[in-house]
Amino acid sequence: MVRTNLRPMDRLLETWELGGVEVKNRVLLAPLAGIGNWFVRLQAKRYGAGLTVSEMVSSHGLAYGDKRTRNEFLRLHPDEGPTSVQLFGADPAIMREAASIVAESGADLIDLNMGCPVKKVCRTGAGSALLGDPDTAVAVAAAAREGSGLPVTVKLRPGVKPGERTGVELARRLVDEAGVCGIAFHPRHASQQHKGLPDYELAREVVEDLPVPVLISGGLMSEEKSRKVMDITGAEAILLARGSLGNPWLFERVLGEREGLPTIDEVLAEWNWVLDRAGEHYEDGRAARYLRKFHPWYLDRLKEIDGEWFTRARLNEINMALQDSDSLDSTRTAIAAIELPAIA
Ligand SMILES: Cc1cc2nc3c(=O)[nH]c(=O)nc-3n(C[C@H](O)[C@H](O)[C@H](O)COP(=O)(O)O)c2cc1C
Repeated sequence: MVRTNLRPMDRLLETWELGGVEVKNRVLLAPLAGIGNWFVRLQAKRYGAGLTVSEMVSSHGLAYGDKRTRNEFLRLHPDEGPTSVQLFGADPAIMREAASIVAESGADLIDLNMGCPVKKVCRTGAGSALLGDPDTAVAVAAAAREGSGLPVTVKLRPGVKPGERTGVELARRLVDEAGVCGIAFHPRHASQQHKGLPDYELAREVVEDLPVPVLISGGLMSEEKSRKVMDITGAEAILLARGSLGNPWLFERVLGEREGLPTIDEVLAEWNWVLDRAGEHYEDGRAARYLRKFHPWYLDRLKEIDGEWFTRARLNEINMALQDSDSLDSTRTAIAAIELPAIA
C-alpha cells in the first residue's frame, strides 16, 4: 500500500475502508479469546474504537448448531458495529457453513484466525497450524468469502518458528488467490506466543508488499508506541489488545481525545458498567465468576492512578474478596467497599 505523508496522529483519525466497510478511524480492538464479547467490544466502541473484532469463534461449533457458540460467542449488540467476527477452523466446507451463519448474525466482516499458537486449536489443523498448510488456508479463506458474501480478512503471524516466513508468503497467496480484503499481522512467530519484541520492520515489508490494508497487532500498550508503530510500519490501522484490558481509556488516548489517566471515579463507574453488562449476558452467578479475570485489570488502573494509596498489599486484599465472589451483588459490595484516598 502507498504510504502517505500525514503525521501518524492525523492518519489515526482518518476514515478509511476495509472491504467496502467504512471505518471511522484507524484504532481497532484486536480479537481476544475469552474476553472480546459484545460488551467488551461495545465498551471499546464507546471509547472511540473504529472497528472491533470478536473473540475467536469455532466454525465447527457454529456449523454443528452448538447453542453456546451461537448464543454467547456470536452475540452482537445493535450499537457495537462495525464488527468483525473472527472464526477459526481448517475445514473449508464447515467454514463455508459457519461463515453463512455469521453473515445472518449481522456482522460486517469476517476475520479468520491463522495465528493462534494454542495446542488445542493447532491440533485440529487451525490457527497457526495453517501457516504450514497454505493450500488449506487459501481454501478456508475462499470458502469463508463464498459462504458469507462478506469481506474477509485473515490474522496471521510471520511463521511458526523465528526465522520462518511462511506467514508472509501465505499473506500474499490469501490476497491473490482467496481474495481476502485485508491482513492483520502480528509480527511475532507463533512459538513466541505473546512474548518478545514484535518485528515492526518485517511488518513494514508486508505493508509495502501487499495491495490490501495491513493492520498491525503487537506491543501497543501506549499512545506513544501506537503512533510510533503506525509511523514505522506505514500500516493502515492498529489493533489494541492487552493494552486495552480494563483500559478502554487507551482508545481515547491513542486517538488524542484524552491526556493522562482516568480518575478513580471514572474507573469505578466503568467497572460497574462492565458488571451491569455481564449481568445482561449471563445469569448472575456465572456473570460473577466470568468477571473474576476482569477485576485485576481495573485494580491495576487504581494502582496506576495512586500507587501510594493502592499498595500491592491493599490491592491483593481487595482482589481476594472479588475472586471469592459468586454473585454480582457481592461483587458490587466488594467494589463499593474500596476505600478511596481522602481528598487533600
Ligand atoms: C488473552 C488473549 C487472547 C487472545 N485471543 C486471540 C484470539 O482469539 N484471536 C486472535 O487472532 N488473537 C488473539 N490474541 C492475540 C491478540 O489479538 C494480539 O495479537 C496479541 O495479544 C498481541 O498484541 P499485544 O502485544 O498488544 O497484546 C489474544 C491475546 C491474548 C493476550
